[in-house]
Amino acid sequence: MPLRKIFVAGCCLMLAGMSGCGDNKTSSDADAPATFGTLHDGRNAMLYTLGNKNGLEAAITNFGGIVISLRVPDRKGALEDVVLGYDSLRQYEADRSYFGAIVGRYGNRIGNAKFTLDGSEYTLAANDGGNHLHGGLKGFNKVLWTADEKRSVPGRSLTLTYSSPDGEEGYPGALSVTLMYTLNDENELVIEYEAVTDKPTVVNLTHHSYFNLAGAGTRDVLDHELMIAADRFTPVDEGLIPTGELQSVEGTPMDFRAPTRIGDRIDYEDGQIHRGRGYDHNWVLNRDSDLLQVVASLFEPTTGRVMEVLTTEPGLQFYSGNFLDGTTRGKSGREYRFRTGLCLETQHFPDSPNKPDFPSAVLRPGERYHTVTAYRFTAR
Ligand code: GLA
Repeated sequence: MPLRKIFVAGCCLMLAGMSGCGDNKTSSDADAPATFGTLHDGRNAMLYTLGNKNGLEAAITNFGGIVISLRVPDRKGALEDVVLGYDSLRQYEADRSYFGAIVGRYGNRIGNAKFTLDGSEYTLAANDGGNHLHGGLKGFNKVLWTADEKRSVPGRSLTLTYSSPDGEEGYPGALSVTLMYTLNDENELVIEYEAVTDKPTVVNLTHHSYFNLAGAGTRDVLDHELMIAADRFTPVDEGLIPTGELQSVEGTPMDFRAPTRIGDRIDYEDGQIHRGRGYDHNWVLNRDSDLLQVVASLFEPTTGRVMEVLTTEPGLQFYSGNFLDGTTRGKSGREYRFRTGLCLETQHFPDSPNKPDFPSAVLRPGERYHTVTAYRFTAR
């Protein structure tokens, strides 16, 4: 597995092959943010466009830190938008699918919407049956983030901040979050997350784009070939809460160690597949360090597009769009039918606050939460 050292330097993250602070694109009117829309409370959300020398383009709004569109080339160089989403801000305000969003304070589920930390029990918003999902009723996907102009490079990187008050959605501690998106010349959309707290709390930030490398809204994702570098996954109960076991993928439909067509085993008679209505599970990534590392790759045969996922995180949720049912109309009015997009959410394991044996998601005052994930696009 290729490893790359992460250096956090002043204004920007320096990954090998990534443009540094000095050689970024210069600002121009084309890089200036546009107004994306007006929220119900009257505030404006902005739209920021990032691009690189190869013509890739990402449009991101400070509402929910949402990636609205991501245009990447196929094997002939043709650019296409590969993420599901909507045309208007109002649709994103109403969205229940987390299209393109930043998810927090805790991405994924917390069982019974409760956890105990340092002897105190905390009750969270229960928004998924009796469980807590993706930060609650108003997670980080539904808040207006503040663009930090000093730490952004117009047209190249966008830094957003959000101060989550003590007690928000039931979580202890005021949490200051910084999020940086960068589109570099290695065709990577890099997401760097940072957070500090004033009281012990739990944090698990992730990104929830639904990818379809054939082009958003065109077809289902079953012909995509997926590799996940994981020997184990975390099996779940009926409510999709991990049982606590780390199960071998050997001999199960969860074995993606070699690239495998997603549709091949998605409807297997298998208890875990049945509970997830397909794939909706966390894989325990094979890691040899906590440095940024390639943990998954996705290939779409008709266009040749390839997406690699790099992360510093221990887990990856592969969700095969099983709740999409065609009732959601996305960009250009396209119907988003069953399994027409898939998410690869880098994360700590679901329900870690209640699972002492899982890697800890606790953040304490004086510590700095810092994770990096990158989606890298090529074609073959
Ligand atoms: C996640 C979960 C899914 C589902 C989607 C949103 O990725 O794992 O179960 O809740 O978000 O629809």
